[in-house]
Amino acid sequence: MSGPNSDYDPVEVTPLKPEEVDRARAAALAAIEAATDAEALKRVRIEHAGDRSPLALANREIGALPPQARKDAGQRIGQARGAVTQALAQRQRVLDAEQEERMLVEETVDVTLPTDRVPPGARHPVTTGSELIADIFVAMGWEVAEGPVIEAEWLNFDALNLGPDHPARTMQDTFWTDPQDHGTVLRTHTSPVQARTMLTRTPPIYVICPGRVFRTDEYDATHSPVFHQVEGLAIDEGISMAHLKGTLDHFATAMFGAGITTRFRPSFFPFTEPSAEVDLVCFVCRGVDPEDCRTCRGEGWIEWGGCGVVNPRVLRACGVDAERYSGFAFGMGIDRTLMFRHGIEDLRALFEGDVRFTTAFGSDL
Ligand code: DAH
Repeated sequence: MSGPNSDYDPVEVTPLKPEEVDRARAAALAAIEAATDAEALKRVRIEHAGDRSPLALANREIGALPPQARKDAGQRIGQARGAVTQALAQRQRVLDAEQEERMLVEETVDVTLPTDRVPPGARHPVTTGSELIADIFVAMGWEVAEGPVIEAEWLNFDALNLGPDHPARTMQDTFWTDPQDHGTVLRTHTSPVQARTMLTRTPPIYVICPGRVFRTDEYDATHSPVFHQVEGLAIDEGISMAHLKGTLDHFATAMFGAGITTRFRPSFFPFTEPSAEVDLVCFVCRGVDPEDCRTCRGEGWIEWGGCGVVNPRVLRACGVDAERYSGFAFGMGIDRTLMFRHGIEDLRALFEGDVRFTTAFGSDL
């Protein structure tokens, strides 16, 4: 760039010639008008209004003019640059508005269109509930054991001290598989997994066995021929009823909340001696003034399952040294437990497979 020069005639400096300035201005305005999108306008802005644009270069030449010539040249260039800046802003507004308009059209969602999307389904509350129960016990160092649903009659009954004359063996309760003399049944409870575990492991044993069981029950609001149980078995030295009580109290509280503990009522199961029915503190009235409580019907307690100290006959049948070891066992209905926990009034809701029911548990896939 040249320095101040008193003989300098602006119209002799090419970029400052009025026609050059007009040309640069007209070229800029035409380019602005021709820019059809933001990208193009950006390029035009650099080319015609940027630091190296003809008008910016001309502007820089003004400083080199003699003072008397600067005013004219300055005005001319200033006006041209002003016009270009204005045209750019104006074009920018138009393009922005067009862009917005286009987006509104392109991104329109027709919410009335029919959809063919298939809902992904949901994990079943029995699955998530069984996992929750397993987690409670795994946290105490227990393991999860499983057994087959088609079970040997011997493991389902005999090994558990349910002799051949036991009423549970009659056709009324048990689904026998064909041919009948094969001695296999659809397991009527999860207790055979106890026998399987004792036969295959050496104590100490702490296992929980959730699973499906089958009985020839009617299908109604509180019964189903297929349902779910969870079995617990602990075999160790010096195990007593006190360990059983502590474990079930913890299980109940973990499942139903603080203050929901258990009580035992004397009962009988062939596989335990002594045996007890386990009741839960009614989680609705909490045993306080239960008279009007519809859930426990004035009892203050709700039946939950069965339990006891493992009968030494069962230990012996399953190869455990009954002199050295003792154990406790318990069995609860998982479906019943979930009905309590979630206020489900009809057992059938757990077996109908309605995704609306399942998703209500917040267990979407
Ligand atoms: N198997 C029993 C039933 O199906 C439940 C049960 C009771 C399991 C007592 C046990 C137990 O392990 O100790 O009714």
